[in-house]
Amino acid sequence: MCGIVAYIGERQAYPILIKGLKRLEYRGYDSAGVALLHQDNLNIYKKKGKVDGLVSFADDFDTTSTIGMGHTRWATHGEPNDINAHPHFSGDDHLTIVHNGIIENYDILKQALEQQGHVFKSDTDTEVLIHLIEEVQRSQGLVLEEAVRIALTKIVGAYAIVVIDKKEPNKIVAARKSSPLVVGIGENEFFLASDATPIIEYTKKVTYLNDEEVAVVHRDGTFQIKTIQNEELTPSFQYLDIQIELLEKGGYDYFMLKEIFQQPKTVSDCMRGRLNAEEGWTKLGSVENNIEKFLQANRIIFVACGTSWHAGLVAEYLFEELARIPVEVEYASEFRYRNPVLNENDIVIAISQSGETADTLAAIQLAKERGAFVYGVVNVVGSSIARATDSGSYIHAGPEIGVASTKAFTGQLTLLTMMALNLAYRKGTIAKDFYRQMVVEFSTIPDKIQQTLEDNNHIEFIAEQIRGSENALYLGRGYNFPVALEGALKLKEISYIHAEGYPAAEMKHGPIALIDEMMPVVVIATNKSAYEKIVSNIQEVKARKGRVIAIVTEGDKQIRKMADFVIEIPEVEEIFSPLVSAIPLQLLSYHTAVMRGCNVDQPRNLAKSVTVE
Ligand code: G6P
Repeated sequence: MCGIVAYIGERQAYPILIKGLKRLEYRGYDSAGVALLHQDNLNIYKKKGKVDGLVSFADDFDTTSTIGMGHTRWATHGEPNDINAHPHFSGDDHLTIVHNGIIENYDILKQALEQQGHVFKSDTDTEVLIHLIEEVQRSQGLVLEEAVRIALTKIVGAYAIVVIDKKEPNKIVAARKSSPLVVGIGENEFFLASDATPIIEYTKKVTYLNDEEVAVVHRDGTFQIKTIQNEELTPSFQYLDIQIELLEKGGYDYFMLKEIFQQPKTVSDCMRGRLNAEEGWTKLGSVENNIEKFLQANRIIFVACGTSWHAGLVAEYLFEELARIPVEVEYASEFRYRNPVLNENDIVIAISQSGETADTLAAIQLAKERGAFVYGVVNVVGSSIARATDSGSYIHAGPEIGVASTKAFTGQLTLLTMMALNLAYRKGTIAKDFYRQMVVEFSTIPDKIQQTLEDNNHIEFIAEQIRGSENALYLGRGYNFPVALEGALKLKEISYIHAEGYPAAEMKHGPIALIDEMMPVVVIATNKSAYEKIVSNIQEVKARKGRVIAIVTEGDKQIRKMADFVIEIPEVEEIFSPLVSAIPLQLLSYHTAVMRGCNVDQPRNLAKSVTVE
C-alpha cells in the first residue's frame, strides 16, 4: 500500500519518477505527488487522484531536477486530498518525506511536537515523522541519515520512507520496517522503490533493505546501510530477472484481461521442472530438502489473506484428501492475534502473491517464534515473505498488476496441488498408479484452461445479463466451494455488485431468503461426487425464481435443462477442477465490470499490496 520511488544521479529525475509511479499505482491511487530538488528549490507537486492527474498538473511547472522522489497513496490517516498527499514537508520546509506504512504512536509524538512549537498542515502520520526528524536533526545538529536513524528509534509502526534534505542535496536517505524498499544500484546513480518494477529499465543490480535498516545513497555513487541501532552492514546484492514486456498491457484493454489469458502459460511455467508427465512424477526442490518435516508433520496451517486465503481453502481439500494431513486455514489477520497453539511438529504455509501482506508477514513471525516450520508460497521474487520464511516455492506467475488476483490464484493452486500429490505419494496415502495417472492429467490442465478461455464471447454475453444486478450469489461444493468464494470476491471487488459465496447446501440457512427473479445465482456444478446434490440445490434456486448461471462439465444435459445459462468447461478430475472452474468466473467478473464502466485494474478503495494491517 502506497508506492514509493526515488532517484539520484545524472539523469532527469521527473520522467523516471512518473514512469515508476505508474508501475506502482497498483499499490494505491488515492493521490500522487513528487518532490524535485533543483538548486535551492524543493518543488513539490501533489494531487488527489491518479498519477495521470499529477502529470497534467505538474507539467505546467518546472520539473528540472536530478534528485527527487514520488509517491502514490492508499489513504490510512487523513482523507485523500491534495494536502494529505505525499510528499510532506518539515516545519521549516527544508526536509521532505514519502512514506508507506503506519506510524502507530503518531498521536503522542504529534502532541509532544506541538508543545515544542511544531504546526501541522495535514492529518497524516507521515507529517509527524518528518517533523520528528527535523526536531532530532535541529536539536542534535546531525547529518540527515543520523537524524533519520535516531528519529526511527522513537517510532512504533511500519514504514518505508525516503527523505531528502534541501541542505544536503547530494544524498537520499531511506529506511524500512515491515514495508518493502529496494535500492537499485546503477553507474553513479541510485533508484529506490517499493518494488523492483520502476528500476528494471535502468539497472539489474539491487539490494533489498531489511527491517530497521537505513540506507544513504550519494550522488558520487557510494552508499552505506546501517541498522537503526547504528550497526554498519555490508549489503548483499541480487540481480533482477524481470522482462519489461511483462509490465505492459500487450494489446489488452486491461492488465486483468491479459493476466486471465496468460494462465495457460503461467500454469505451465509453475509446473516447469517440477512435473514430468512422461516419467509420472511431480516434486518441489524445497519440499524435497525438508521432506522429513513434511512427512512427519502433525498438521499444516495455511495463513493468507484475500484470494490467497481462498487458495489455502482449496489446499485444505487437497492435503486432507490426498496426503491425509490435518489442515487448518487461517486468515493471517486473525491467526496473528489469537494466541494459536503451535509447536515444532506443525508446518505453517504462508500463501501470498505480493509477498508483502503485513498480516501474513506478522503471522509468519509468530509461527517462527512458536517453533513451527514456516514455508512460503509466493509470487514476487525477493519479497519480504519469501525472505522471512524458512523455505518455500515461487509460483512463477510473473508480475500481476491488475488489483484483482487471477493468474496468481491459479499459480498458487498449481503449486499446492503438486505439493499435495507429491506428499501423498511419499506418505503412501495414494497408490503409485493413481499418482502417475494424476500427474498425466495434471499436465493437460494448461490446455484445458486454454479451451475454457475460448468461451470468452459467450461469457461476455452472460455478463450482459447480470450487469444490472445489485446482488449475486455464488454456490459450490467440495473443491469448488472455495472457488465460489473466489468468484464472488472477483465480482464484488471490480464491478461493485454485492456478491456472496456459499457452500451450495448452506444456502438454505440464510441466503435463500434473498433469492428472487432479480438475483443471479452462479453455481459451479462440475463435481462428479456431489452432482445429484448440486442438481437439487439448483432446483431450490429455480423454485424461488432465481436466475441460474451454471458452470458445468462439457456435455452435461441435465443442468442445461434447468439453468438459465450454462458455461461448459472440459472434464477434469475433481482435484484439478478449481484450476479450470475459476477461469469463467474471472471472465464473468471482468466483462461485468467493464460493462458497468468500472476501472477493472484499479477498483476503488483497494490496493494490490496490503502493507498495513
Ligand atoms: C489484496 C489484493 C488481493 C490479494 C490480497 C492478499 O487484498 O487486492 O488480490 O488476494 O491482498 O495479498 P497477497 O499478496 O498476500 O496474496
